[in-house]
Amino acid sequence: MSLFSLRDVTYGYDRRKPVLHDISFDLTAGQNLGILGESGSGKSTVLRLMLGLAEPDEGQLVADGTRLDTRSAARMRDHRRFAQPVFQDPYGSLDPRMRIGKALTEPHSALGLPGDARTEAARVLSEVGLPEDSIHRRPRSFSGGQRQRIAIGRALIARPRVLLADEPVSALDLSTRVRVIDLLDTLSRDLTLVLVSHDIAIVAALCPQLLVLQHGRIVEAGLTREILRDPQDDYTRTLLNSLPRLPEPKEQSR
Ligand SMILES: Nc1ncnc2c1ncn2[C@@H]1O[C@H](COP(=O)(O)OP(=O)(O)OP(=O)(O)O)[C@@H](O)[C@H]1O
Ligand SMILES: [Mg+2]
Repeated sequence: MSLFSLRDVTYGYDRRKPVLHDISFDLTAGQNLGILGESGSGKSTVLRLMLGLAEPDEGQLVADGTRLDTRSAARMRDHRRFAQPVFQDPYGSLDPRMRIGKALTEPHSALGLPGDARTEAARVLSEVGLPEDSIHRRPRSFSGGQRQRIAIGRALIARPRVLLADEPVSALDLSTRVRVIDLLDTLSRDLTLVLVSHDIAIVAALCPQLLVLQHGRIVEAGLTREILRDPQDDYTRTLLNSLPRLPEPKEQSR
């Protein structure tokens, strides 16, 4: 089942200077999609369009079976239940003055979601592995990784079908990163993840499908393992070769 379908989408912050050209792809339920590409290639802009924060200048964007009309308040409310974002910076994405309980119950009422807001807040805290009494605390008393869990929890309040994550772990240290990736992996049993990352290892671990962007165009699309094994595009090859390699582990001598 297609959750998102983009057809020949062109978009520019300035209409005369498109930054995305002829973007076409489908997001299929249960098939996490990774998006790779160098800085400025248009990855975040693709997510902005998918969130309905901007509309294509040309082409079509269909979400959950109908065209996404960003001017319709009702349509956008439905859309926010359907697809939720997670951003890179867990510090910036939470209001420092707001206790976690409020940060979680607020979107629940704003989106007119069913069920009791406090019960739902407790549910998502447990889903992201934080204690229930976190609701009384403010963001500053949490670590970066915990804050990213809260931001993910806030996205989960809506029980979205799609999570659009823009470099969700790049601000975290290595061990915290691994735990948040594990969390995203667990969550993708119940939702479909679109993951923008510079880290090909993370994309390979979480996403069976891959898009590679260069200068606002798709230069490679398909199964991640096939693209990594045998990239068809020169640019993808360069990208794969330019990734930092960890030193090969030495044989343990006993
Ligand atoms: N708010 C904006 N106003 C004008 N131009 C923008 C804006 N945001 C991005 N751009 C331009 O659009 C193009 C794509 O940017 P985008 O942020 O989507 O790239 P990206 O692949 O996410 O890069 P990065 O890896 O650095 O996050 C770039 O040329 C960028 O300069
Ligand atoms: Mg970006």
